[in-house]
Amino acid sequence: MSSIKRCLITEPRIETLSVKIVKMSTNLPGQSFYVTTPIFYVNDAPHIGHAYTEVAADVLARWHRQRGEDSFLLTGTDEHGEKVLRTAAANKTSAQEWTDKLVHDAWLPLLETIDIDNQDFIRTTEPRHEANVQKFMQKLYDAGFIYQGSFKGAYCVGCEEYKNKADLVDGTGEFEGQDVCAIHSKPVEQLEENNYFFKLSQFEEPLLNFFAENPNFIQPESARNEVVAFVKRGLDDLSISRSKEKFDWGIDIPWDDSHITYVWFDALLNYITAIGYGQDDAEFNKRWPATVQIVGKDILRFHAVIWPAMLMAADIKPPQQIFGHGWLLVGGEKMSKSKLTGIAPNQITDIFGSDAFRYYFMKAIAFGQDGSFSWEDLSARYHSELANGFGNLASRTLAMVRRYFDGVLQAPGQYSDADNQVIEVARTAVVNADRAIDEVAIHEAIAATWTLVDELNNFITVQEPWVLAKDEANRERLATVLYVASEGLRVLSVLLNPVIPKATGKLWAALTEGKLGDLADQRLTESANWDQLVEGTNIGELAVLFPRIETESAQ
Ligand code: ME8
Ligand code: MG
Repeated sequence: MSSIKRCLITEPRIETLSVKIVKMSTNLPGQSFYVTTPIFYVNDAPHIGHAYTEVAADVLARWHRQRGEDSFLLTGTDEHGEKVLRTAAANKTSAQEWTDKLVHDAWLPLLETIDIDNQDFIRTTEPRHEANVQKFMQKLYDAGFIYQGSFKGAYCVGCEEYKNKADLVDGTGEFEGQDVCAIHSKPVEQLEENNYFFKLSQFEEPLLNFFAENPNFIQPESARNEVVAFVKRGLDDLSISRSKEKFDWGIDIPWDDSHITYVWFDALLNYITAIGYGQDDAEFNKRWPATVQIVGKDILRFHAVIWPAMLMAADIKPPQQIFGHGWLLVGGEKMSKSKLTGIAPNQITDIFGSDAFRYYFMKAIAFGQDGSFSWEDLSARYHSELANGFGNLASRTLAMVRRYFDGVLQAPGQYSDADNQVIEVARTAVVNADRAIDEVAIHEAIAATWTLVDELNNFITVQEPWVLAKDEANRERLATVLYVASEGLRVLSVLLNPVIPKATGKLWAALTEGKLGDLADQRLTESANWDQLVEGTNIGELAVLFPRIETESAQ
């Protein structure tokens, strides 16, 4: 292993490195970070695909909070539209009763299951949303961006989207001979209605200019290229209302109550109605434009084309970034509610816990790319990376302080080259992980953090504290080795807190005896400043962070 090799090479002593750490980040305290997830349809309960998006957004929000920023995570539910109404009807209940039930029984509990620390949860049936959607619609209407016209074409209720011929594929099996939606594999409906239209076609040029001036607006690069090519092919105006003659589960068009608002026009506005658009300018101006909006690539065009055009029409700045992540696949296809291929998040957390869920999905899949979930891979990574790599490092380090020094943390003596190398690896890990987060490369941030886990494991293997402990003459060296390892664990607690908050909370409590304040208040960017743990701290007992799990039950 390369880090063992590096460990054995004698390098020139790095003079007083430990106290001269330069603060790398220029983030000001109080800087606002606003991150959103899509709001999910409540036609069914969540599966691990929805949980995946939630965790990613939550890790980013926690990370920025750990930097000292005013970090705000918004999530919620998309409750209007034909899809939800039909599901309610199929379940012989009203749409309102159905959505209330699903939100309370399934969608809010999801946040507990995977340990999401959201600052708000918006439902599109709330008055604060409905009233301000109407304000927004009226504004666009008054400004001349909306006109009445007639729509004739295909609509997929699964996508809640108008479809062109190019979006459809030939049906198979029971749908042989019909045009079906490429995503849902189900027939589309033919609509013919008098609707209101949004002049989306006017925004072709402004959008292309905006994309050119803001190269980071759509990420990752593949998503950006796809959207730019799509807009270059030309944009049609968009039908943004549905006649109440067809169905009425939606927000009334303010100037014509025989129509309701198209569900996507309603849903996209949640990102601003939740933070005070139309009623609390101070709050709105503090948070908007959003820093990053996380979506799955299935709904990229809504967020990267329609959404910024809507905002431009209302004279509101587009968000700073739309990040389209990849799909969790089952048998090569997108895991989905409609195809019944979803795995419920608690099937995983009941066995492995929420920390493992969060860690696994953020580490195993490069954020932005597709990934396949497998129980074998989850179990293998849980045991090798979390239980053996990190958990065991923490428990044996703390156990040695207890065994050799009655649990009292000793001041370090002079640092050796090996000690200084740990300090240097910690410093680099913090800088690289923090930089990766700015690029929304969550998997890279974890990989950068893991260089310190590996380094500390090698450090202990090479330093052999159990050998040092046999000779009273090595007392000071033993104290130093355990202090360096404990300091490394302190840095890891802070760096990993956004990803595995339960385990790091326990470790922090055992390591610090409350002497360094709350883990939440530790500044990530200053975490590699060495020598923070206090001599004389009573190191507490640490329960096993990631207990071994019998593979039979992991299935
Ligand atoms: O589209 N892999 O809601 P939705 C990864 N209400 N992520 C997945 C996934 C998978 N297999 N399946 C779902 C809607 N997701 C609209 C959004 S926003 C103004 C309105 C995640 O319930 C992913 O984030 O169909 C995807 O974009 C979202 O769930 C779609 O959720
Ligand atoms: Mg969907």
